[in-house]
Amino acid sequence: MRYRRGTHPEEKERANRSNPNPMGVSILDRPEHCTPSRVVALAAVCLVVVVCTYATSSWPGDFGGKEQKYNTWRRRSSATLALILGIVPNVRSVHQAFAPDDLEVALRGAAFANRTLILTVLNEAYAEEGGLLDLFLQSMREGDGTAQLIEHVLFVAMDRQAFQRCRSLAGLRCYLLRQRDDGTGDNLSSEQLYMSDGFIRMMWQRIRFLGDVLKHGYSFIFTDMDVMWLRNPFPKLELGDGEDLLISSDKFNGAANDYIGNELNAGFFYVASNNRTVALFGEWHAARRVSPGMKEQDVLNQMKRRGALRRLGVRTRVLDTARFSGFCQDSRDAAQVATVHANCCRTKRAKVADLRAVLRAARRLNATAPGLRWPAHSECVKSWS
Ligand SMILES: *[C@@H]1O[C@H](CO)[C@@H](O)[C@H](O)[C@H]1NC(C)=O
Ligand SMILES: *[C@@H]1O[C@H](CO)[C@@H](O)[C@H](O)[C@H]1NC(C)=O
Ligand SMILES: *[C@@H]1O[C@H](CO)[C@@H](O)[C@H](O)[C@H]1NC(C)=O
Ligand SMILES: *[C@@H]1O[C@H](CO)[C@@H](O)[C@H](O)[C@H]1NC(C)=O
Repeated sequence: MRYRRGTHPEEKERANRSNPNPMGVSILDRPEHCTPSRVVALAAVCLVVVVCTYATSSWPGDFGGKEQKYNTWRRRSSATLALILGIVPNVRSVHQAFAPDDLEVALRGAAFANRTLILTVLNEAYAEEGGLLDLFLQSMREGDGTAQLIEHVLFVAMDRQAFQRCRSLAGLRCYLLRQRDDGTGDNLSSEQLYMSDGFIRMMWQRIRFLGDVLKHGYSFIFTDMDVMWLRNPFPKLELGDGEDLLISSDKFNGAANDYIGNELNAGFFYVASNNRTVALFGEWHAARRVSPGMKEQDVLNQMKRRGALRRLGVRTRVLDTARFSGFCQDSRDAAQVATVHANCCRTKRAKVADLRAVLRAARRLNATAPGLRWPAHSECVKSWS
């Protein structure tokens, strides 16, 4: 991890300690001594601080840079305003608002220069040895052009156990998602059966997190961990047409622009960071309140049918199952297939069994390119009964 000079957290901390702003500290520590001239002086100092930090802050790359700068500027100016108004009791807490937050540090570490990264979410049940995490990693290590993508994946752990397993594996970037208390008091470490309460709550926490990532100015591919990466998907996404959302589908009807007619699957998608997608994720997460018992993917499909994507101006394209396939509809194109999702499957055990068979088949992918035959997803079929 490289930091620009003066931006390393410890350096900031040292600067803060060795060079406290004497005027600021004395006024703030004794508010009863606030004379009008001191308030004016403090306001002037704060103004200089805001202008300087805005002017000196720069991020590599232009991708989403303006909105990101604006957001940071807004955060910093409100911190300074709070200082002037005496809401914040000391200079130190203002400094915290100035330092990059831990999510920003994690995103910056994983992203390509164009502020794009890959995100996936895991809990203890997914992280166990011989489970979905290991299969996911195996697919990336063995896939065509995928091994070099591993360092651009941020593994977002929903619990400590998953975080620890993640950190025990060399070369992974792990981030522990702090659970905001939702009042139910139980924990999301264990296997969350399809459509159980825990499953649904985990999904909503994920949507809120992904919205936060967009607000930080990062674009990403989100992938469920039960998606096997057989080839580098970036070239197959055909980015560059200015689309905001490219999303996979359980059964593709042949028309990439028909996001209404295709049932969208939120287990694999690319989203570009901009104010349209930030608004979409905001509305999507807010909709959980009026959609009890519905999972996030069904809510997105409902929002789309009610015209939310059109209203927000989110340019959407559906990914075809020839390249971005799953158990609901196998790819018929061995030369094209980038990912295989264990969708249409209920239990983790069945997914692991059938995905193992996919990886075995993928090793023969080149040899059998003309007439690819996937193994039958028999465990997943049985998982519903
Ligand atoms: C959450 O559940 C897991 C597995 O069921 C268990 O190992 C862990 O100790 C639990 N954590 C808490 C905080 O209750
Ligand atoms: C960002 O960079 C990666 C790696 O070079 C590339 O695969 C991807 O297509 C780029 N994304 C955009 C939006 O250009
Ligand atoms: C996004 O920003 C543009 C101008 O920068 C504005 O016209 C548009 O309404 C905004 N969209 C949303 C969804 O906020
Ligand atoms: C498949 O073929 C591509 C290019 O023809 C090659 O780069 C890749 O290593 C091959 N994969 C396997 C598993 O043999």
